[in-house]
Amino acid sequence: MRRLLVTGAAGFIGSNFVQYWLEAHRDDHVVALDVLTYAGNLSSLDPVLKNSKLKFVKMDILEGERVRALMEREQIDTIVHFAAESHVDRSIHGPDPFLETNIRGTHELLKAAKTVWLTGGGSGPYQFHHISTDEVFGTLAADAPAFTEETSYAPNSPYAATKAASDHLVRAYHHTYGLPVTTSNCSNNYGPYQFPEKLIPLAIVRALEGKPIPVYGDGLQSRDWLYVRDHCRGIDRILEKGRVGETYNLGGGAERKNIDVIKMLCSKFNAMFQSDAGLRSRFPRCPAADGGDTASLITFVRDRPGHDRRYAVDAMKATLETGYGPAESFETGLGKTIVWYIANEPWWRSVMDGSYKEWMKQHYSG
Ligand code: NAD
Ligand code: DAU
Repeated sequence: MRRLLVTGAAGFIGSNFVQYWLEAHRDDHVVALDVLTYAGNLSSLDPVLKNSKLKFVKMDILEGERVRALMEREQIDTIVHFAAESHVDRSIHGPDPFLETNIRGTHELLKAAKTVWLTGGGSGPYQFHHISTDEVFGTLAADAPAFTEETSYAPNSPYAATKAASDHLVRAYHHTYGLPVTTSNCSNNYGPYQFPEKLIPLAIVRALEGKPIPVYGDGLQSRDWLYVRDHCRGIDRILEKGRVGETYNLGGGAERKNIDVIKMLCSKFNAMFQSDAGLRSRFPRCPAADGGDTASLITFVRDRPGHDRRYAVDAMKATLETGYGPAESFETGLGKTIVWYIANEPWWRSVMDGSYKEWMKQHYSG
């Protein structure tokens, strides 16, 4: 039985992970920690908030002393560290909070774990699992092989640079102090509870509202897409089978160009609206509501500065060592995601508050 501290638990992947974990490991105790930035929503934990095995704590990972006391009080033996500023575009507009949370926040957490686990007199076993990204590897040429764990770090955005720094700190705490750590570097996730500033939920919400779907530059950049539940299962495999001190790449084996992602999404919308009169009356502004093509909303806009052209992940190490493998194809995962957003309109309306509207206005003007 584990006693987990999950940071960033009210964010996209964190909330999916907490829900997954409580279903898959019914005896475990989970402390869900989140400071609730614009990207954190307690409502993302609604389905499990009454579970007696879950405790939610509103806390900032930058407050290391409070985190240390919490770990002692709750006898935490496992940390799964998601908390971060995660949006590349925001890191380009204002990098400071990324340095604070992603670098200094991770360091505060490492110090707390070191104090409690290595000098606290407990016996363990302990595990600090750090959630990182494939973006630390930079961009790939069109014909280059996918990123492996041996690929050199070459982060291009302020976001990626701060994630790279946090990965190095995690590694150093293992190498220098013997802290039991594992790290996973994952590709682009999508699925329920993703904040509608990221490509897929943004496109879904805008298509439902009949608003332009912004595609950066020529739309030919590609990403490797992973359904969020498969990421959660991958982390579970690493917690179970991963070797201490190792890093593992996780990906979906589903490399797609952005424009193809959006076109697939639009054709799914067209088919769903055609066969469902209820959808047509709920979302009359979607072009498909009166027989039009959702793809008519696609609008090419100014490119993201320093935009990485291509990411692709080789997850063979995780597959061979831990049994990792995604269950969802991109086609089925995207379908489930669209259905979830249609069924959970109150969730996405509630998170698109004043600060979201302000960001959209600044970012997509012109
Ligand atoms: P998210 O932005 O949806 O959620 C981040 C959460 O962290 C939010 O709930 C926020 O309130 C919380 N948080 C931020 N600063 C905090 C602080 N100082 N103290 C406590 N909580 C704080 O992000 P996400 O997409 O769920 O990503 C989670 C992790 O996974 C991040 O570390 C990210 O780098 C990594 N990752 C994300 C993806 C992806 O495609 N989304 C892919 C690979 C890796
Ligand atoms: O690769 C893993 C990373 O994936 C994570 O580490 C990040 O936290 C996560 O945000 C994601 O980063 P991306 O920048 O790849 O995700 P985003 O959804 O912002 O963009 C996906 C692609 O779509 C990217 O090439 C930029 C493009 N894009 C994005 C938006 C928001 C558009 O063309 N239009 C848009 O409006």
